[in-house]
Amino acid sequence: MADRFNTRLVHGARAGTKIHGAVNPKLVRASTILYPSCAERRTTGKRSLEQVEIYGLYGTETHFALENMVSEIEGGSHCQIVSSGLAAITVPLLAYLAAGDHVLVPDSVYGPTRSFCNATLHRFGVTTSYYDPQADEAALTAMMRPETKVVFAESPGSHTFEIQDVPILARVAHAHGAKLFMDNTWGIHVFQPFAHGVDVSIQALTKYVGGHSDLVLGAVIVNSEEDWLWLRRGALEQGQYASPDDCWLALRGARTLALRLRHQEQSALAIAKWLQDRPEVMRVLHPALPSCPGHELWKRDFTGSCGLFGVVFQPHFSQDAVVKMIDSLRLFGIGASWGGFESLALPTSMTITRSEGTGGFGGEAARFQIGLEHVDDLIVDLHQALAVMRDFAEPVECASAPRLAGELDAEFRQTGD
Ligand SMILES: Cc1ncc(COP(=O)(O)O)c(C=O)c1O
Repeated sequence: MADRFNTRLVHGARAGTKIHGAVNPKLVRASTILYPSCAERRTTGKRSLEQVEIYGLYGTETHFALENMVSEIEGGSHCQIVSSGLAAITVPLLAYLAAGDHVLVPDSVYGPTRSFCNATLHRFGVTTSYYDPQADEAALTAMMRPETKVVFAESPGSHTFEIQDVPILARVAHAHGAKLFMDNTWGIHVFQPFAHGVDVSIQALTKYVGGHSDLVLGAVIVNSEEDWLWLRRGALEQGQYASPDDCWLALRGARTLALRLRHQEQSALAIAKWLQDRPEVMRVLHPALPSCPGHELWKRDFTGSCGLFGVVFQPHFSQDAVVKMIDSLRLFGIGASWGGFESLALPTSMTITRSEGTGGFGGEAARFQIGLEHVDDLIVDLHQALAVMRDFAEPVECASAPRLAGELDAEFRQTGD
């Protein structure tokens, strides 16, 4: 019987566990790799598609261990570690696209991905069109051009949380000879990209794999020799590299990934449900709740969720009121990123860029990253901050103590329905 996720995370990338020696893979820092002879150096140098130490830039034992671990998590055959989550997006786009090509990107995409397409790809003669993340097969097909080489997906959008129909995207892309790329950072472990037709999967390891808000790292994962050739060559040509120290830390983070994910998923779901019943809240954008666009697709394709979700407030709360609420949170940090051990909150309406004529939540929004704190402490904190927001909007009496998550939902469930 195949080992389960927790077991694979603990025992993966640790060849020789049963042999005398350190439990953890070695941290190898290297630029120069020495060879016994010129001939051996020449022969080994030709093996850059393999996990062989050739030169520091090509990776060391430490990089390879993390690559194996991330391949295991994503269900792919090969992985390239790169310097950041954003590099995990830009490296394959540059590797696969050429002047004259066209790329389809969801309107809900992570802002820096949009900037890269609009600035760098545009400068190199690649055109980008933005599609509605909820577009159906006919609408997507209508947007494909003979020169469309990549369809990009991000499901859910990391600010707007629409779940996309990835199998349909794969069908449309492949019918036109294009590749399907997907930023699967939110869906780590709960969405298996290659089982749903993705060709190139992207993980910002900065988030859950790192898990401790102390490193920046990315990974690109593929599942065929053909894609590995495109990706590996592109990464090497672009001089992509990641610090082995960060790789080592990310590998350590991966050992506890399953536990952290499970805890953060459960807490986020409990808080999302609690917020859903609040009078200040118009809509909770959590894919496991029916109020989130694409919830039915989430039920069909995902096995769970993570700790990141959004909230849209009633229209009478101004952006200033939402900012006031976030400023008054005691346990939630104010800062970018997610997937770490600590909770974060950010106002989001101002960070969302959309193509003309689309978007809009109908109210100011905030994004919450739920960490490893006790869920009830987070709810108590949110309760007092919402009171501050209400008072800011229209001074009123503060409600009594909140009902805690344990009372609301003693049995945490993964489905969230
Ligand atoms: C969905 C998504 N993809 C990629 C990235 C980029 O990751 P990094 O910060 O490691 O560059 C982020 C960062 O916030 C993100 O939210």
